[in-house]
Amino acid sequence: MGIPIKNICCIGAGYVGGPTMTVMASKCPYLNFNVVDINKERIASWNSDNLSKLPIFEPGLKELIVKTRNRNLFFSTNIKEAIESADIIFISVNTPTKTQGLGAGKSSDLKWVEASAREVAKYSKGHTIVVEKSTLPVRTAEVIENILNSAETNSKREEISFNVLSNPEFLAEGTAIKDLENPDRVLIGGDNQKAMIALSNLYKAWVPEEKILFTNIWSSELAKLTSNAFLAQRISSINSISAICEVTGADVREVSRAIGKDTRIGSKFLDSGPGFGGSCFKKDILNLVYLAEYFDLHDVAKFWESVVEINSWHQKRITEIVVKKLFGTVANKRLIILGFAFKANTNDTRESAAIKICRDLIIEGADLIIHDPKVNPKQIEEDLQIKQFSEEEQNEKSTIKTIHGKWRFSKSLEIFEEAHAVLVLTEWEEYKHIKWDREFKKMVKPAWVFDSRSIVNAEEVQKTGINLWRLGDGSIEKEKDIFK
Ligand code: NAD
Ligand code: UGA
Repeated sequence: MGIPIKNICCIGAGYVGGPTMTVMASKCPYLNFNVVDINKERIASWNSDNLSKLPIFEPGLKELIVKTRNRNLFFSTNIKEAIESADIIFISVNTPTKTQGLGAGKSSDLKWVEASAREVAKYSKGHTIVVEKSTLPVRTAEVIENILNSAETNSKREEISFNVLSNPEFLAEGTAIKDLENPDRVLIGGDNQKAMIALSNLYKAWVPEEKILFTNIWSSELAKLTSNAFLAQRISSINSISAICEVTGADVREVSRAIGKDTRIGSKFLDSGPGFGGSCFKKDILNLVYLAEYFDLHDVAKFWESVVEINSWHQKRITEIVVKKLFGTVANKRLIILGFAFKANTNDTRESAAIKICRDLIIEGADLIIHDPKVNPKQIEEDLQIKQFSEEEQNEKSTIKTIHGKWRFSKSLEIFEEAHAVLVLTEWEEYKHIKWDREFKKMVKPAWVFDSRSIVNAEEVQKTGINLWRLGDGSIEKEKDIFK
């Protein structure tokens, strides 16, 4: 007989826990899903009647929340109760890079995972399948198993038992709902067939059977890190080629199109941009680097570390180009920043290229106006670690002494007055429809548009007289034709 499943618990109501359980709840209306978190504010936002206050912005999420919330999907801080009643528990907590101690800067900080395992050990009843949903270093399942086994042996509660499985999440932010509803694959790693089947039955409600892969637990953990490392490596590769395009007269979009036609390479994930951001690529590669170093595979470690290093170099390169084109200084020049999220269709700014680029420009003395349709200015302040310049200060300019430039946020796009340049850092749809002939009139001449996402209509911008720089476009750098 299979393991009976009725109640599901998810520890962690973040970018993964929230959308993942929402989609599961919509696909499995006969099961109950309890999503718990220690963060009271986050849970309150998930429960907010005002759906624009959900803690996460994802296209399609609101609609599914309306369908499932308080029917078979519940958000709460009552961790004990959710664990007690659960047949399956997903651990979906944050696993950032350690900032101090052993492995600092590379290995994952597992304190939230360990705390979750201890809570499970403390409150679970009967048989529980514990699933690693967070991205974890290889062999973390062993840590979780150790904690749970010691509870099995020492608990005064009758008959508690566990199976630990790995079921990494592959969703990308901005397309989370689509990715969850139609995943390329669902990966389940483990050594207990009954538990693996019970978990796969959940997915079978909407995922075709041939897309559900079973592996051993360590392959599953490593496949998740490897998948992110390969994706990030593609971006670092194409971004490095963008630099070569700029000096040779080639155009990186044409190069991407040409190589993408090779079915062995494929056309996805070949868009050059301001450098990959997001909470996971850097952290997961560094995790892989740490693992390789731990096993004395130093050349392997060096290979993967270079993917991260070139990403930082690339972000810095963009700032340097802006400064150079603006006659070597941006001090007191108004620059418009279009987009702060690490990609479009999310409010997430973790590791966004905009953070480094904006900070560097502010340190160079620039006066930034930052626009983003979904990011909260408080988040920007936290990311930049520089306070927003207030209206009052704006009016008393002369009395304020700052050692560097300043920034302020704008909700509206009526911000081009007296701007020297515009930097497109996130590919939000609305930036594609800016009327450049109208905005050009308001800008200081010579005016510049720096498009790091290749989304503005180049012809239209250039027609107005604005100078355009596009990432990886050597064809508009004609004035320094290196072949002459
Ligand atoms: P997040 O920071 O958005 O959410 C994690 C949540 O866990 C937070 O709300 C935090 O308060 C909560 N939490 C921490 N410790 C807890 C505890 N002991 N009890 C209850 N709640 C606790 O993180 P995220 O982006 O959702 O990522 C979670 C994991 O999923 C990470 O390992 C990440 O690498 C992985 N992942 C993320 C993505 C993504 O797109 N963000 C995609 C795939 C995998
Ligand atoms: C990434 C992976 O795509 C997911 O499969 C994985 O589950 C997730 O990490 C994770 O483990 O957290 P995510 O970071 O949300 O998802 O978003 P991506 O679409 O991968 O974009 C990451 C960064 O790369 C963004 O800054 C994006 O702008 C950039 N990017 C992406 C490019 O510069 N060019 C591209 O062609 C694609």
